[in-house]
Amino acid sequence: MSERKERCTASCIQRAGARQVNPATLLALAAPLALMGCAGDKSILDPAGQVAREVALIWWVMLSFATVVFVSVVSLWLYALLRKHREHTPTQERRIVRYWIVGGGLLLPGLTICALLAFGVPTGKRVLPVPLDNAPVVIEVVGHQWWWEVRYPNAEGEAVVTANQIVMPAGEPVDFHVTAADVIHSFWIPRLGGKIDMLPGRTNRIRLDADAPGRLLAQSAEFSGVGYAHMTFPVEVLPREEFDAWLAARQPEAIEALTATADAATLASFEESCARCHRVAGLSTGDTGPDLSDIGARATLGGGVLTMEEGAIAHWLEHHQTLKPGNKMPPHDDMDAATLEALGSWLETLTP
Ligand code: HEC
Repeated sequence: MSERKERCTASCIQRAGARQVNPATLLALAAPLALMGCAGDKSILDPAGQVAREVALIWWVMLSFATVVFVSVVSLWLYALLRKHREHTPTQERRIVRYWIVGGGLLLPGLTICALLAFGVPTGKRVLPVPLDNAPVVIEVVGHQWWWEVRYPNAEGEAVVTANQIVMPAGEPVDFHVTAADVIHSFWIPRLGGKIDMLPGRTNRIRLDADAPGRLLAQSAEFSGVGYAHMTFPVEVLPREEFDAWLAARQPEAIEALTATADAATLASFEESCARCHRVAGLSTGDTGPDLSDIGARATLGGGVLTMEEGAIAHWLEHHQTLKPGNKMPPHDDMDAATLEALGSWLETLTP
């Protein structure tokens, strides 16, 4: 008895709660959330490449088809509720049941899956890095907690290394070879389609293309710990000649000359406090943190937490644990502000 009373109390509270929420308010609150993914820099519905356009088309086809199925099912359900009850003989009943199972349970899903495969398989094939007559540009991306290592290997087995940015040529396929250094991450440039897991110990490959020069945004699509939300980075799409020039400016011989711009005291602080984790071409080989050889030429810092502008690196060095809580660079509390500012100013000059 008391149990029934308790249950009644719980459902009464539920009903009372439900009465207080106006459905129109709920809808108004939910609509912006639901529509948030439809626009902006990371919208899959605003494709910026051939593969992405095909993926978006499949999405629209699936949405249209799902809408037709939804409306049909709801209409049939309403019809079944509202129509007058009719008596059937057992043979008629068996026939009706068979009709629905074969038609609705086998034929309809079978045809739907075939139609989706006819659309999806050619698109899926296009993102596979099959051999091409002209070998595409290869960009290797390694996911770290919580930053991106980006490498452009050349035929001699060496690589131009950068971090937290991708620069790629427009109007041609680019092969991304992705892996992870610690936990699982996921590589995703929403406006170019794709999205592929980055797994420690395994290299996955995906082929993407961008129609025209411009800036896109990429981010990790796999929760990887506390800094995960700050793993966005810009993707700069350049005309082929500008891309070639960008890459040439980062070849070892070109970039090593840049390090000569630091004064002895700043270089000594870098050597002592930073070099073991950071590589600066021609100066240090640390690889626990992002390569800083072209840091002054990047658009953002810390996976998108700061826009690069004068003084941004010093600001990052002083406040990085507040800007990006939990990130794996230790705080520099033992260093005075003047040293950090000198380091920041020098790093900002590393613009190949
Ligand atoms: C123990 C290793 C370690 C040391 C020592 C270290 N860092 Fe870092 N640093 C990191 C890691 C890891 C990151 C990436 C943090 C993130 O964004 O999650 C980083 C990020 C950075 C960035 C931002 C890079 C980018 O692409 O956004 C700069 C600039 C930087 N460090 C400079 C320095 C300087 C200057 C020193 C010395 C005063 C230093 N670091 C010392 C590990 C280290």
